[in-house]
Amino acid sequence: MRLISRNSAAGGLMSSHNLEISLRVNGEDVSARVEPRKTLVDFLREDLALTGTHVGCEHGVCGACMVRLDGEGVRGCLVFAVQCDGAEVETIEGLSDSGAIADLQNAFQARNALQCGFCTPGMLIGAQELLSRGGVPSRETIRAHISGNYCRCTGYQAIIDAIEQVAKQRAGAAR
Ligand code: FES
Ligand code: FES
Repeated sequence: MRLISRNSAAGGLMSSHNLEISLRVNGEDVSARVEPRKTLVDFLREDLALTGTHVGCEHGVCGACMVRLDGEGVRGCLVFAVQCDGAEVETIEGLSDSGAIADLQNAFQARNALQCGFCTPGMLIGAQELLSRGGVPSRETIRAHISGNYCRCTGYQAIIDAIEQVAKQRAGAAR
């Protein structure tokens, strides 16, 4: 188990009101004391140094902070860390290290589906969520699914191309 005994209130004040939480992050047990107001994305980035999850709008709009919470894609800026007590969290680091999205990462690279890369972790988590439902989604479905992930660079076409390519590859491999 990973114990976060140093100041888990990085960016804030240590307080007797900090709450103890225990959760699994990328398959590792983690225990920490956190400020009740601390968001999940800030906890991941500041306390666990998992900086692959990005922070954009902090208002649930841009999708940069997407992680998986008990298997479902959520916006880490809209969830308090204390709400994750007992939960399983997976970040882009966990998905990447497990090899689960290697095909998506390769397709994004091959199709030039990223430029600055700021949106890419959230985009990959969103894409994986869609593709894990199985089948080959239409381009309209892909477009709708990633509509909550803002990309300021690519124009989206290459991202949709990459996701569609991997959907077809996975469907072919499943036959
Ligand atoms: S930072 Fe969470 S949705 Fe934008
Ligand atoms: S690649 Fe720059 S925001 Fe998407």
